[in-house]
Amino acid sequence: MGLLQIVLISLATAMVAGWGNFQSYNLEERDLDFRDVDLNKLVSKLPLEQQKTVNGSILYDPNWESLDARPLPSWYDEAKIGIFIHWGVFSVPAVRTEWFWNVWKRGNSNECEMYVLNNFKPNFTYQEFAPDFTAEFYDPFAWANLFARSGAKYVVLTSKHHEGYTLWPSRYSWSWNSMDVGSKRDLLGDLATAIRENTTLKFGLYHSLYEWYNPQWMRDFANNFTTTEFVDNKITPSLYELVNTYEPEIFWSDGEWDAPSEYWHAQEFLAWLYNTSPVKDTVVTNDRWGGDTLCKHGGYYTCADRYNPGVLQPHKWENCMTLDKSWGYRKNANIEDYMTPEKLIQTIVESVSCGGNVLVNVGPTKEGIISPVQQERLLQMGEWLGINGEAIYESVPWLYQNDTVTPDVWYTTNKNETKVYAVLINWSQEVNLGAVEMQTVSAVRMLGAEGMLLWSGAEVGINVILPALDKVDSKWAWTLVIEKV
Ligand SMILES: *[C@@H]1O[C@H](CO)[C@@H](O)[C@H](O)[C@H]1NC(C)=O
Ligand SMILES: *[C@@H]1O[C@H](CO)[C@@H](O)[C@H](O)[C@H]1NC(C)=O
Ligand SMILES: *[C@@H]1O[C@H](CO)[C@@H](O)[C@H](O)[C@H]1NC(C)=O
Ligand SMILES: *[C@@H]1O[C@H](CO)[C@@H](O)[C@H](O)[C@H]1NC(C)=O
Ligand SMILES: *[C@@H]1O[C@H](CO)[C@@H](O)[C@H](O)[C@H]1NC(C)=O
Ligand SMILES: *[C@@H]1O[C@H](CO)[C@@H](O)[C@H](O)[C@H]1NC(C)=O
Ligand SMILES: *[C@@H]1O[C@H](CO)[C@@H](O)[C@H](O)[C@H]1NC(C)=O
Repeated sequence: MGLLQIVLISLATAMVAGWGNFQSYNLEERDLDFRDVDLNKLVSKLPLEQQKTVNGSILYDPNWESLDARPLPSWYDEAKIGIFIHWGVFSVPAVRTEWFWNVWKRGNSNECEMYVLNNFKPNFTYQEFAPDFTAEFYDPFAWANLFARSGAKYVVLTSKHHEGYTLWPSRYSWSWNSMDVGSKRDLLGDLATAIRENTTLKFGLYHSLYEWYNPQWMRDFANNFTTTEFVDNKITPSLYELVNTYEPEIFWSDGEWDAPSEYWHAQEFLAWLYNTSPVKDTVVTNDRWGGDTLCKHGGYYTCADRYNPGVLQPHKWENCMTLDKSWGYRKNANIEDYMTPEKLIQTIVESVSCGGNVLVNVGPTKEGIISPVQQERLLQMGEWLGINGEAIYESVPWLYQNDTVTPDVWYTTNKNETKVYAVLINWSQEVNLGAVEMQTVSAVRMLGAEGMLLWSGAEVGINVILPALDKVDSKWAWTLVIEKV
């Protein structure tokens, strides 16, 4: 994941593509509103005369118009919460960022360069970190159980980050994969097995298209992508290998920005993924398939790291976010650097109200441990979702996303809109819900509290009296269920 880089690239893309005004979409003009699409059936949004079928399945053509018309499999929107896992050779130095190698090579006595100069022998290379990626305490079943208890419904593991090292024994990454150097294990395959055997979570993969210092990539780059040596010899074969071997339910692409989607043969790959791959009916993809695709083409949109627009979006999207400042593990992180449970839950509530999913990142250590503070955050999330999950899972955005009178109140509704959920980020003994019309209300209660609540019509909307704080289960944000008449 890019830090500043991705922000700059996103800004540049935004300027080029002219979606600087992205947050001000007119809701009346929503043409791809996921609420209007029957997500239970893979019915193409292409005009009938343009649809081709084989054996009753729609066939997608390798162009964005056709690929973009594929509806997102419904499981993804219903799942809402996923776990992102950034793990690789960068977890060995574990200083500053998973971009460690790249930052080091930029020089100027930055933190990464100084860490190597001060702690390793002269002429130390990044490759020499790899034997230390030992994962001796890696217990994929323990990870799977932790993720299940966190309330997440899917995981996305970095199969390969920009360093090029693969967490699976790839035939196309000789001597730079987890079986050849480091743990001598198929780290990816072992997690896939544990997730599938012991949880109901979906297993997904992150994959970086580009590799900073791969000589073939550097040549294609120098040739301004008039040559395709890297993508033909390395990327395309490993994409097919990855999908055919591990059958991921999410394909989370990244590292796309320097080259156009044409160079990556992304449209051909996606047509294969949607038409004939072993996961063709269930796989979900993102929007990072070339410099021309972010927030525009593919499956759901990610738009930027930590994307949280605060207003309803016209296309299904995901907020991928970190608990620490970095995606990769940082040995020298302090507790103040970690997101509080309050902030984590607020981020989830805001994102889901606006039609988003949330992908919460963990960065395991080189030994294979998810640090106790990261475990604690995930378990706190699970505790909150255990009480308030009815307002999150399988919910859909309501008419209003946040309240018109009281700040920090966010809404969702169930699929047939018989209930509206108002999640209060802040506690107060009495709350005015300006967006809720009195005539539509039959009863109000709180998730994780006994009985019905007192409510009355207000000048605008309704007033609700909350129970005593020591009589409610939820610790961080509180969900009012408004039963409609
Ligand atoms: C269509 O079905 C037939 C018979 O089951 C099968 O042999 C063929 O491979 C299928 N075609 C595609 C494109 O899935
Ligand atoms: C480091 O590499 C340089 C250039 O290859 C070489 O001249 C030098 O002797 C090396 N230093 C050590 C301590 O190996
Ligand atoms: C699988 O998960 C259950 C709880 O969901 C747990 O009791 C069991 O020990 C787990 N199995 C393994 C092999 O970890
Ligand atoms: C690189 O290719 C792009 C797209 O074909 C073109 O617009 C640009 O001028 C080229 N740049 C150079 C330095 O050749
Ligand atoms: C919430 O709603 C009000 C109007 O009802 C709006 O002005 C405000 O910007 C919204 N967003 C947030 C993040 O509070
Ligand atoms: C609304 O959906 C719920 C399940 O989500 C179902 O129990 C209820 O009967 C539905 N109500 C109406 C009016 O369709
Ligand atoms: C609600 O609490 C958050 C901190 O959790 C704070 O940033 C925000 O200002 C509070 N909102 C109101 C309306 O008090």
